[in-house]
Amino acid sequence: MKTLKVVLLFMATSGLFFSFAHAVDGVALEKASIANGAKLYADPSLGTSGRTCNTCHIEMGKSKNMGMRDAKGFIGRKHFPKYFPMANRVMTLDQAVQFCIVNPLSGKPLAWDDSKLTDLTSYVNSIYTGNIAK
Ligand code: HEC
Repeated sequence: MKTLKVVLLFMATSGLFFSFAHAVDGVALEKASIANGAKLYADPSLGTSGRTCNTCHIEMGKSKNMGMRDAKGFIGRKHFPKYFPMANRVMTLDQAVQFCIVNPLSGKPLAWDDSKLTDLTSYVNSIYTGNIAK
């Protein structure tokens, strides 16, 4: 009888656990991250220079033309980590985003686990790859 109770309890709790695991919609979270990153992309409060990412990487990073300081759009330029001439080192995509927050935007570096950094990186990556979290 006791064993049966333990088995039933286990089944009930693991059932609960797995139904929670299924309730999380990862793709929806990725889409939300990209959407929030798009807002941050045009938000001057990331820095102190009055600029946004969009000041230089114009048309939300989708332009084939150069913006301020010869900054380009991101479409089709994917391959990270890559050599980043401004910093004279190889960087991951989030390091490149962080570099542009600290330097051209004169902002404070974000913590590496800050969701703003994740979201901006999600947005920029979606332009590089054309992946809008299908
Ligand atoms: C004052 C202009 C300026 C601003 C503002 C700026 N950047 Fe940049 N960024 C540059 C320049 C110049 C480069 C190097 C040339 C290039 O790769 O387009 C660069 C390079 C990059 C790269 C690497 C491009 C590649 O494929 O090698 C990324 C990613 C990037 N910036 C993201 C951002 C993000 C995100 C923001 C906003 C937080 C931002 N930048 C703000 C000027 C700027």
